[in-house]
Amino acid sequence: MINDKIQKAMFAGSFDPITNGHLDIINRSAKIFDKLYIGVLYNPTKKGLFTFEERVDLIKKCTSHLNNIEVVSFDGLLVKYCEENGIDTLVRGIRIGSDVDYELQMARMNKELSPQIETILFPSSTKYSFISSSLIKEVLFFGADIKKLVPEIVLSELKDKKEKGEL
Ligand code: PNS
Repeated sequence: MINDKIQKAMFAGSFDPITNGHLDIINRSAKIFDKLYIGVLYNPTKKGLFTFEERVDLIKKCTSHLNNIEVVSFDGLLVKYCEENGIDTLVRGIRIGSDVDYELQMARMNKELSPQIETILFPSSTKYSFISSSLIKEVLFFGADIKKLVPEIVLSELKDKKEKGEL
């Protein structure tokens, strides 16, 4: 809290599914901000492996140890959602150099759209720096062991999808 003001931050993404990399950023940001929103992008035209409801449910289960988290959905512009809900910080994780380029572009576009909203970039922990939801799905498809890369519940749901031939 700065100047008695509740610091609200937003960590938004597709989360298809949530990984240990996401969770690392969530745990670290939840220590810094009074309230952390996890914004799940609702995009019915982009079909993921997990349905929107499944993604939200997995995030809720994986963050139940934190008491200053709220999982929310948004569609349209992220900064618009933040403006409407009094959230003035966007949190994003950066893993490798190419993330920096992409994240700077998004941060600057968001700043242009909504100058009062700041983006804070968290360098990912080294041990998670190679993880992405897409790569996890790809290597699991080819039979790799991904148990260190995703929460246990996500691992079991992913294996379920694989058995059903949905991966
Ligand atoms: O985890 P992702 O998929 O890289 O997250 C990207 C996300 C959802 C944060 C970004 O695409 C987004 O904010 N989309 C909502 C639409 C929007 O505001 N676009 C302008 C971004 S500068």
